[in-house]
Amino acid sequence: MKSSELRQSFLSYFENKQHQIVESSSLIPGNDPTLLFTNAGMVQFKDVFLGDDVRPYTRATSSQRCVRAGGKHNDLENVGYTARHHTFFEMMGNFSFGDYFKKEAITYAWEFLTEVLKLPQEKLLVTVYAEDDEAYDYWNKTIGLPEEKIIRIGDNKGGRYQSDNFWAMGDTGPCGPCSEVFYDHGEHIWGGPPGSPEEDGDRFIEIWNVVFMQFNRSADGTMAPLPKPSVDTGMGLERIAAILQGVHSNYEIDLFQNLIAASAKAVGTDDLTSKSLQVIADHIRSCSFMIVDGVIPSNEGRGYVLRRIIRRAIRHGNKLGQSGVFFHTLVDALDKEMGDAYPELRKLKERVASILLKEEEQFAKTLDQGMKILEEAIANLGDAKVIPGETVFKLYDTFGFPADLTNDVARENGLEIDEAGFDAAMEAQRARARSASNFTMDMSGSVQLDAVTEFTGYEQLESQCEVEAILLDGESVEAVEAGQTAVIVLKATPFYGESGGQVGDQGWLRGPAAFKVSNTTKLGKAHLHHGEVKEGRLAVGDKITAEVDRSLRNATTLNHSATHLMHEALRRVLGDHVTQKGSLVDAERLRFDFSHFEGVTAAEIEQIEDMVNEQIRLNRPVETDIMDIEAAKAKGAMALFGEKYDAEVRVLTMGADYSIELCGGTHVKRTGDIGLFKILVENGIAAGVRRIEAVTGKAAIEATRQTEAALLKVAALVKGNKENALDKVSALNEHSRALQKELDALKGKMAALAGADLASQAVEINGGKLLVAQVEVNDPKELRDLLDELKSKLESAVVLLAAVNNGKVSLIAGVTKELTKQVKAGDLIKMVAPLVDGKGGGRPDMAQAGGNNPDALPSALAAVPEWVAERV
Ligand code: ALA
Repeated sequence: MKSSELRQSFLSYFENKQHQIVESSSLIPGNDPTLLFTNAGMVQFKDVFLGDDVRPYTRATSSQRCVRAGGKHNDLENVGYTARHHTFFEMMGNFSFGDYFKKEAITYAWEFLTEVLKLPQEKLLVTVYAEDDEAYDYWNKTIGLPEEKIIRIGDNKGGRYQSDNFWAMGDTGPCGPCSEVFYDHGEHIWGGPPGSPEEDGDRFIEIWNVVFMQFNRSADGTMAPLPKPSVDTGMGLERIAAILQGVHSNYEIDLFQNLIAASAKAVGTDDLTSKSLQVIADHIRSCSFMIVDGVIPSNEGRGYVLRRIIRRAIRHGNKLGQSGVFFHTLVDALDKEMGDAYPELRKLKERVASILLKEEEQFAKTLDQGMKILEEAIANLGDAKVIPGETVFKLYDTFGFPADLTNDVARENGLEIDEAGFDAAMEAQRARARSASNFTMDMSGSVQLDAVTEFTGYEQLESQCEVEAILLDGESVEAVEAGQTAVIVLKATPFYGESGGQVGDQGWLRGPAAFKVSNTTKLGKAHLHHGEVKEGRLAVGDKITAEVDRSLRNATTLNHSATHLMHEALRRVLGDHVTQKGSLVDAERLRFDFSHFEGVTAAEIEQIEDMVNEQIRLNRPVETDIMDIEAAKAKGAMALFGEKYDAEVRVLTMGADYSIELCGGTHVKRTGDIGLFKILVENGIAAGVRRIEAVTGKAAIEATRQTEAALLKVAALVKGNKENALDKVSALNEHSRALQKELDALKGKMAALAGADLASQAVEINGGKLLVAQVEVNDPKELRDLLDELKSKLESAVVLLAAVNNGKVSLIAGVTKELTKQVKAGDLIKMVAPLVDGKGGGRPDMAQAGGNNPDALPSALAAVPEWVAERV
């Protein structure tokens, strides 16, 4: 059975059992910021199990694309070393949301395996959770499986409910006891049944996990019963396909065989058994689907996982001797295998290939050099077995080698890498970067700042403060005078320090001195007020009044709050793949970069604007809560992967749960404060990344006013008004098109007249006609048209025309067909052109040239009759 038939047969079987077929969701979990990638079929149903989401169905089935790389479940390192690990795989599953439970789940699984797929019963055995007598009895009594084929597995992983037969989505969330079906690949393969000391062997392979979802585990470990007992099952498509196709390794199934053949061709090898080809074939699947779902290679979070996998694939291609780019070409082969089942892949395949190509080109620059360094390092190891962390870090930092790529090479050589050493070098660099990036201006790293500024600016824009420290040219000083530019640190401040995309506040510090704050930044937990003393003298310990520029801050705040509303609207209108790639919020506008593959259409822009403006009109309160990060995630707060958050975070909720995000920025009290939201521009800034700029409040009104003013100006130009300007401009357009047509016709007529006039100037030479003339034309096309006209009028002739425009000579020669035996237009042009400092050539019947010396044109033309006379 082909993999595609298997997928279809699974879905159809459960459809016949009243299950709704649900499409595979994105690899980026929309409802769970705690998860890096979708790694099981149940991820998209998590909230349904918890009772927080209700669907129109209570039974569902799906074939879900999954990635197990980079997160808690990480199989990346095993790919290429085992027969069954993948970074990307498909999980087929059936789900019951408070509908059927253990009995039916077990019955369906057995029936599908033995009656639809016709697996021999004697090859199957099952496990149940030790305490689950109910499941045991169903297998034993209802299905009739003998006792020796049912294995009870208890808490074998060191704690209550820590068991191979107790499945949990993560540290928190839905969970329950499970029952797994195993397939016996036969005595000739080493391994023992589950629960035995040899269970890790390859003989008994788990093919289906049937989970009886019963509890919701919370962060403190308590297990609350789910609203209704449910079912979640998962069967790896590739594994079961291997059994049905009578092969031992997943990489031997149809789907992979074609990809491996394509990979071999792309890297130029004949050795189809190479493990590197398996790596490449596996990686093209995960990489392509990640990109389809909106991940872009980058240096953090999901983007870095993607980059690591791409680079690992490229390195394996390189190992097989491919020094050029190749990986992106495999998207076509993948599309052939999977594009029918995943139309989103087919739709975006060109985009996917172009992103991969770019990444390949980038890495190609450093791969060879890095490999040389690594090979040298390995050669220099002597008897040592561990590649030093510093080397791994250098390869990472200078040559873009992800640590797991270096590890992969190490492993091939029977070596390891010093991971701890690598982490330490990495942390040291981060620390350097942190201090360097915060000491912009002219300060040196010598300044020590462990000050903690209390930020009072969420509530107040003006307050009494005390000067804690003053920095002048990188040195800590006691006081600064009028005219000096310095950085002031206060014990507490209402000034927001630039962070989270929101710009720093401006304003004044007034007391014994007047200090104009032009920007506020953050260094660690200190807020730095950058600016200039305008009057007086400011000293450490002085009491001052800190006044934030209200109008700038308020306008910035509106833009920041609108950014949150728009972020949510983008996800609702464009899809869950939209993730923030960058944000800048200042008093004038908001700018938001996000992952999305195509231009946002005018209709979508309208929808987004409408959605945001609706939230504004609802005028709901905006709430902030400080809570621990786990609670925030449980609440569904959108967080950015790769960002480090404190244990305590600020959660911003807008419009009664319309938008929930972690955010330290300043925000409006009610959404209505934003007034109005208007998108100004949308465009692409990088492959797969779009940028929107928008305005709010007064600026939004101003923007609409400007559009209206422009319309009024246009109306005035056409002597109309707002209402009829469009009609008038269209009429004008129409009119100008008609005029152009008329003009072209006239020009044609004039050319014909000029042609007739010129034709009469032709002279007889040895029975043929010759016409040499300098004419007035505007462009080479007119010259060509004129030549054609003359050739047809004169019937049998040699024609040479010249024109001078802007100090340059244009020449064209034409010879009618029967004369080309004697005179070739190309030869004639080659004779004339040099006389006017030019060159050119062409066919026997038509040739063109340009020249730089118009003064020589008369004598050049005068040379033509004699040259022609010699030939006709
Ligand atoms: N969610 C279960 C698993 O991933 C079926 O094994």
